[in-house]
Amino acid sequence: MRKWLLAAVAAAIFMAPGAGMAQSPIIIKFSHVVANDTPKGKGAIKFKELAEKYTDGKVRVEVYPNSQLFKDKEEIEALQLGSVQMLAPSVAKFAPLGAKEFEVLDLPWLFKDEATYAKATKGPVGKWLFNKLEAKGISGLAYWDNGFYMVSANRPLIMPADFQGLKMRISGSKIGDQYFRLMGSIPQIMAFSEVYQALQTGVVDGCENTASNYLTQKFHEVQKHITVSYHAHLQYAVIVNTKFWNGLPADIRTQLDKAMNEATDYTNSIARKENEDALAEIKASGKTTLHYLTDDQRKAWQTAMAPAYKWAKGRVGGEVLDLLSKELSINMN
Ligand code: LMR
Repeated sequence: MRKWLLAAVAAAIFMAPGAGMAQSPIIIKFSHVVANDTPKGKGAIKFKELAEKYTDGKVRVEVYPNSQLFKDKEEIEALQLGSVQMLAPSVAKFAPLGAKEFEVLDLPWLFKDEATYAKATKGPVGKWLFNKLEAKGISGLAYWDNGFYMVSANRPLIMPADFQGLKMRISGSKIGDQYFRLMGSIPQIMAFSEVYQALQTGVVDGCENTASNYLTQKFHEVQKHITVSYHAHLQYAVIVNTKFWNGLPADIRTQLDKAMNEATDYTNSIARKENEDALAEIKASGKTTLHYLTDDQRKAWQTAMAPAYKWAKGRVGGEVLDLLSKELSINMN
């Protein structure tokens, strides 16, 4: 009798971990700083839906939007420490990771359209940049698009001289810092979650961002003038902690890769329309005045910002600049 009992207890103990594991899903915390109603916000939710479906519930993805969990800089530290597993920061924020080469994608007037942008990130440049992350214990899974930047202040920004002396919020890229300096303004790095208040209280005079971010953060309500300049591009890299990702069972990782590929196609397919719709909504709100540059005005901006290319060589190195100029068939000098 006692022998039987001991055997039953031993069997129960032996089986318990397996039984328990079957019930508790693997949790992926996906933190980001923008609203759900943006290309990235929608992409994160799409990934959650697909990941949970393809793994049959063995993985649960918890999406934390709007800097709910962490702000820009903290979320990168959290990923390295393993307190979150997945992020999609703009590549302008990668310097603290020791991967400032990503800022090459922030060069002004680099991509003439969305297709050119997509070509660069899908090709050797995209892969080359992701390789830079590996030594930091981070893996790049995908590039997500969020379209082109507009720029705003409480005065119209039509010619480079209009930027003189303005304090402009930037998200982190030294290339962004450089092109705003070339326009005569004073760039200032600030976390995304602090921008609305900084604009409202005059801590900064202006900022750059895409239409979907202006609309969902209400920046357009505290900026009297927006120039639809499309002077640079906003792109994200979806990144994971390598140890976590490689430690997943192979079949689960395959399903998550599939979910990520589909979520990426989805996000990149809606980015343009989402931003067009957001711009139309900003216009209809009547809360700000939109300005569009003439060809001559655009040329004046391009001329003022052109030295950013030479400067960039010292920041991102010649290798990635050469790769990019080959990929896009453009002269970078
Ligand atoms: C910003 O800080 O302006 C952007 O990077 C926010 C975002 O993630 O779109």
